[in-house]
Amino acid sequence: MLDNQKILVCVTGGIAVYKSVSLVSKLTQAGAQVKVIMTKSAMEFVTPLTFQAISRNDVFFDTFDEKDSRVIAHIDLADWADLVIVAPATANVISKLANGIADDMVTTTLLASTSEIWIAPAMNVHMYENKAIIRNIKSLDQDGYKFIEPSEGYLACGYVGKGRLEEPEKIVNLISNHFERNTYFPLKGKKVVVTAGPTRERIDPVRYVSNFSSGKMGYAMAQAAQALGAETVLVSGPVELDKPIGVTVIEVESADEMLQAVLSHYEDASIVIKSAAVADYRPKEVQLHKMKKKTGDSQIELERTTDILQVLGSKKTSQLLIGFAAETQDSIRYGKEKIERKNLDYIIVNDVTDPDGGFGNDSNVVTLLSSKGLNRPFPAMTKKKLANELLETICIEESDSLNDR
Ligand code: PMT
Repeated sequence: MLDNQKILVCVTGGIAVYKSVSLVSKLTQAGAQVKVIMTKSAMEFVTPLTFQAISRNDVFFDTFDEKDSRVIAHIDLADWADLVIVAPATANVISKLANGIADDMVTTTLLASTSEIWIAPAMNVHMYENKAIIRNIKSLDQDGYKFIEPSEGYLACGYVGKGRLEEPEKIVNLISNHFERNTYFPLKGKKVVVTAGPTRERIDPVRYVSNFSSGKMGYAMAQAAQALGAETVLVSGPVELDKPIGVTVIEVESADEMLQAVLSHYEDASIVIKSAAVADYRPKEVQLHKMKKKTGDSQIELERTTDILQVLGSKKTSQLLIGFAAETQDSIRYGKEKIERKNLDYIIVNDVTDPDGGFGNDSNVVTLLSSKGLNRPFPAMTKKKLANELLETICIEESDSLNDR
């Protein structure tokens, strides 16, 4: 399963260290080459000899104990690894990493690593919910570290709650999927155009009509398309997000600008994904100067913007057209109706009143509908994970037709 993949396991000091022993054993059995670094606290629970015997490799724990004089151990280990996993990751190591602290063998190696780093936290439920830890996890997430969420259950401290290190079998499965996915590029050679965020329709130089879209869903879709091998163009309304790596970003403001940008990339696109929350109306007249306050009420006359997706549906040749539907009631019925009216292949329906989803949230809950009758619900999960799952599902559904697009 993991033939010769080089995995560096960083073990920090918590009672869940015993599960890391099992993790290293399972990774080795799956064919991976595994090296282990331990913190001093981890060694209070299990000795390095245990990991050495299971991994059949030297175990590292002292930054100044250079076992091979030809290399600097923490740099060498960092360069060696295809994947680094910190399991269990204590509150302490998470906080150090979030602040760039490198004061032992684990943290110096982590800072020197350019491979993907996965963090599997394990701690008391109240520590996991502590504001500082939440803040540090969020900041590491933004820096590109991946988290394996702890599971819920009985904790060694006697509490029942979230904080248990994920089971070693599950971690091994995630690692196998990761390496499989890294050789799975179903969208290689395809151009995918994604739209994201809100549009702003100006009233005057200081005011506009818009909505609460943060762009998170669309940015996640673009990053997922890029990870599956696509040449990805992201047409983005005004948002406060970092540009996804490896994606061409075109910044627009209004629905009209979004329409022009999408049309200019439509002809040679294989897939178009319209995650943007385009304003349906704009002021009929845009004032050149700031509107002055007057006594009494005021009215602004609005007119319809162009329905970009409907235009794309009417011009469709070989493109796979995927829309989103933001609904507050009767979502599936309205979603199906939009597939028909806009000539779509798929629509991703989200009930934006769901507390786990919709505008601004990091997570979403959706149902994927297709013109061929697919109706697949996806439970609440982060928009990043959801984007991967949605696109992978669509790639599998379209495996026969993708070549012709
Ligand atoms: O950005 P986030 O904060 O992460 O939130 C994500 C989201 C809720 C915005 C996203 O998941 C979502 O639902 N996007 C579509 C929102 C929307 O405009 O839905 P709609 O049902 O009004 O439109 C249906 C489809 O038509 C959408 O694909 C939309 O992009 C498109 N449309 C709508 C109007 C218009 N003038 N032109 C369009 O192309």
